[in-house]
Amino acid sequence: MTTLSPLDSQTDDAIDALLDAAFGTDRHGRTAYAIRAGMRWLPELSYALSDDAGIFTGLLQSWPVALHCDDGAETPLIMVGPVAVLPGRQGEGFGKLLMDRLIADADTGAKAPLMMIGDPEYYGRFWGFSADATSGWRAPGPVEQRRLLSRDVAGASPLAVLSGMLGPR
Ligand SMILES: CC(C)(COP(=O)(O)OP(=O)(O)OC[C@H]1O[C@@H](n2cnc3c(N)ncnc32)[C@H](O)[C@@H]1OP(=O)(O)O)[C@@H](O)C(=O)NCCC(=O)NCCS
Repeated sequence: MTTLSPLDSQTDDAIDALLDAAFGTDRHGRTAYAIRAGMRWLPELSYALSDDAGIFTGLLQSWPVALHCDDGAETPLIMVGPVAVLPGRQGEGFGKLLMDRLIADADTGAKAPLMMIGDPEYYGRFWGFSADATSGWRAPGPVEQRRLLSRDVAGASPLAVLSGMLGPR
């Protein structure tokens, strides 16, 4: 049976190995890493997926970040990702299981809207992420505007259209 567990059930080495397999060992230079530099992932919104043989096959991490607005205000956000599934196991529904769990938990417990860098064709289709609120957002590295996504959650005020720089909280 496929199981989802808190990500802190896995060692740091196992997490790094899975991320290297999914994204490559040069992944640390990505803009997403700069946005959440120095932060620790949120244990209550980060998951490990094990397949029916008990093999650690996928993971999802979430991070505390913020939009540092041009007017000096700070809007807290929860950055979702990486979502990673072992290359040989992609397309089996594991990514969807991880995201379904994240969204269910975020809609009941999260106190800040979600953001991520990802394909709108995937994250918009299933979970309602969009680039509608992010046109004024900047990032500490290159990012395609259409892939800069946000999603409101039940427990936080809806995101207004704001201008500012993404970074650690
Ligand atoms: C992106 C990723 C997490 C998706 O997980 P997955 O387990 O392969 O995807 P699923 O099997 O759950 O896919 C569910 C559906 O979404 C579709 N889908 C998956 N990735 C997609 C993408 N990038 N764009 C559009 N659709 C996508 C699948 O075709 C499938 O559609 P269907 O139900 O109509 O057949 C995984 O492929 C991965 O780890 N990729 C490498 C790392 C990466 O790019 N992560 C995302 C950025 S953080």
